[in-house]
Amino acid sequence: MKSYNIAVIPGDGTGPEVIAEGVKVLNAASDRFGFKLNLNYFDFGGDRYLKTGEALPDGAVDELKKHDAIYLGAIGHPDVKPGILEKGILLRLRFELDQYINLRPVKLYPGVDCPLKDKGPEHIDFVVVRENTEGLYAGAGGVLKKGTPDEVAVQESINTRKGVERCIRYAFEYCRKRKRMKKLTLCGKTNVLTFAFDLWERTFYEVAKEYPDIKVDYAHVDAITMWFVKNPEWFDVIVTDNMFGDIITDLGAMIQGGMGVAAGGNINPQGVSMFEPIGGSAPKYKGKNVINPLAAICAGGMMLEYLGEGDAGRTIERAVMEVTSKHLKSLAAGKMGYTTREVGGLVADYMSKI
Ligand code: IPM
Ligand code: MN
Repeated sequence: MKSYNIAVIPGDGTGPEVIAEGVKVLNAASDRFGFKLNLNYFDFGGDRYLKTGEALPDGAVDELKKHDAIYLGAIGHPDVKPGILEKGILLRLRFELDQYINLRPVKLYPGVDCPLKDKGPEHIDFVVVRENTEGLYAGAGGVLKKGTPDEVAVQESINTRKGVERCIRYAFEYCRKRKRMKKLTLCGKTNVLTFAFDLWERTFYEVAKEYPDIKVDYAHVDAITMWFVKNPEWFDVIVTDNMFGDIITDLGAMIQGGMGVAAGGNINPQGVSMFEPIGGSAPKYKGKNVINPLAAICAGGMMLEYLGEGDAGRTIERAVMEVTSKHLKSLAAGKMGYTTREVGGLVADYMSKI
């Protein structure tokens, strides 16, 4: 029997609650599809940081590297200053594990309320390929004369040919395998960011020559936020830089019905990848059994697809669609008509029925 070693980081806030439901569904998938998951839990997060003063202990990254994938709940704690855990855990893992792709599907599931008038599941089904190790997130820059009237703050966007090209190539390959519209849109800002997005644009059209079967398209980032609302059906796969990808995927999450169902994968195609719900730790709902676990469950499905268990991953998605179309009143925390654990239980039940 195939077996996979998974590092599980439940993390902060509602992270542990949604991960528990994700694990329930992953176990149902492994029972049905005949593989084994060895889960290894790590307590990284805000509580550990408050106790020990370190975000990630020495050797943590090497330890995580021994696994086939990482399953992450959420990072973010109300008693820890913003930036410490994000940079010290989440971004550090993305960078040190060289997870250079952040893959974020935006799909409206049946039965889910969409805030866009006259749009249904047939209109909203695209994937954002966000570069995940460079751009404004690289941390380049600095500050001079801090706290004085002459203060200077510089924050630079780093774009390397290698980093841009590997991301764009991944997006073309992904678009080809997805076999939907076979259309890849570059999202940039070539009219203003004439250094960074000139590199992106040239690389995009060069690589495009190797993919004559893929239609290529370009949109400025400001315009794309408009098209997401007006014509989301135009999109199949979108490739963009780290910062723009961060911003447009929150908008994407809203048009697919909210953070309750938005999942993502931090992917190193040659290394260890990490899958997470993208909604954050939602500390005000912690321990109340009301948070929506579907995003974490979908992230688990993405992880199985990545591990090569495509049938199992797709079955998780189908089970989620059964639950959204036949059961949930809403995707919002506290308004689902079911508790967190009940929603996990429903999805797990469908895993053996469909
Ligand atoms: C995300 C989050 C992170 C990001 C934060 C928590 C650092 O917003 O995964 O989109 O900006 O990438
Ligand atoms: Mn974000």
